Amino acid sequence: METVATIAAVRERVRAWHKAGHRVAFVPTMGNLHAGHVSLIEAARRHGDRFVASIFVNPMQFGPNEDFAHYPRTPTDDERMLAAAGCDLMFMPTVAEIYPNGPERATRVEVPGLSRILDGEVRPGHFEGVATIVTKLFHIVEPDIAVFGEKDFQQLTIIRRMVADLCMPVQIIAAPTVREADGFAKSSRNQYLNAQERALAPRIYQSLQAGAQRLRAGDCDYASIERAGFKELEAAGFRVDYYAVRQAADLGSPGPAGGLVVLVAVRLRNTRLIDNIRIERS
Ligand code: PAF
Repeated sequence: METVATIAAVRERVRAWHKAGHRVAFVPTMGNLHAGHVSLIEAARRHGDRFVASIFVNPMQFGPNEDFAHYPRTPTDDERMLAAAGCDLMFMPTVAEIYPNGPERATRVEVPGLSRILDGEVRPGHFEGVATIVTKLFHIVEPDIAVFGEKDFQQLTIIRRMVADLCMPVQIIAAPTVREADGFAKSSRNQYLNAQERALAPRIYQSLQAGAQRLRAGDCDYASIERAGFKELEAAGFRVDYYAVRQAADLGSPGPAGGLVVLVAVRLRNTRLIDNIRIERS
């Protein structure tokens, strides 16, 4: 695996692969890789011939009181992990390479509506930062395929909408959430939890499963399911930002048909954790 830090170097490598007829699959990340990220690379390997991963902690998607400065940065381990997973090219740019005029003055991409609900309501500007960096990375890497985890379900939905709205020639692949044995979804932020908080964490997925069970049994009292999930998590000791039942296709209010998703965001002390569960319906 080769590691490069400049836009010019990535373009040169990827254009040569395209010229040779290869399909290029891309996995954007913020580094501090774990088994969840490896599963994204594995998904990429099923769809492409050459694999690019980016490691970039994007300042634009962090709010002023969020963990940008402290976000875990482990480039040497990340490089080893990507090479072992079969990645061909790792792109690890500096902030100045990506935002030469500073993130504050950069052109921004916004997906209206979807970016302002759920996590977007609690983290103003977050999804604008995500949509902007993903657009820039797509222009830099020019991939045929890009893989995103279902754990960040709202992010995945926003990127799908953005790609469709802006006619980007990139196929978006969703990779299932990777969980610990007790159901807790893997995330770089899990390492912030102390032992007591970690012991509480599986309750998040358990609450989603309880909601999903009611929905699968045909319960359509969505407000009551949301209230029950919210109360259960608050009683367990979480600060709950939302526990919401939505249409899986567009995160709108649930209707009588179509797939559903239950999404949750909670806080344990300073750590914010999100998860979701899908419910198929005809
Ligand atoms: O999901 C992430 O790790 C980030 O939001 C992404 C997509 C790499 C953009 O910075």
